[in-house]
Amino acid sequence: MWCHALAATAQTVRAEDAIRYRKAVMVMIKWHYDRLSQAAKGSLPLARDEIERNAAWLDALSKNAAEGFGVGSLEGDTKALAAIWRDEAKFRGLVEKFQADAARLRQFARGGEAAALKAPLDAMTRTCKSCHDDFKKS
Ligand code: HEC
Repeated sequence: MWCHALAATAQTVRAEDAIRYRKAVMVMIKWHYDRLSQAAKGSLPLARDEIERNAAWLDALSKNAAEGFGVGSLEGDTKALAAIWRDEAKFRGLVEKFQADAARLRQFARGGEAAALKAPLDAMTRTCKSCHDDFKKS
């Protein structure tokens, strides 16, 4: 569904803007993911409401993880691989997996126990890595 919507806007959206947008989303994802990972490892003390807030942001940002990957945005200052558009079903599957991971992490974050985040964060880390392995230049 998202691919049709993006294909329709490909003419009016500048590739450069799409690339900047999707990279910005990834940077924000990393920020909240890092905060929670450090809290889970015990290297960053995070208050209960901060754990919940970071997990809520990650959940919300996961919903935008496919935004800005429109057809025609392969050229430019980007590390996105053409495989995203060639193997769209697989890419979309990983986006959905990531969204499920983020929703699960948010559930585990309710109550604000940092140690409870370990398992759902490990699952999420595998999804980040799968997607980067297949769809991002290293
Ligand atoms: C469904 C695929 C997918 C998932 C899941 C995913 N990424 Fe990415 N990520 C990408 C792609 C593709 C790029 C390259 C975007 C570009 O350069 O246009 C990228 C780029 C990045 C970047 C570089 C941004 C920049 O400024 O160039 C960071 C940081 C990043 N991802 C972190 C993460 C983290 C952390 C996770 C998991 C918590 C994650 N990503 C999950 C596909 C994914």
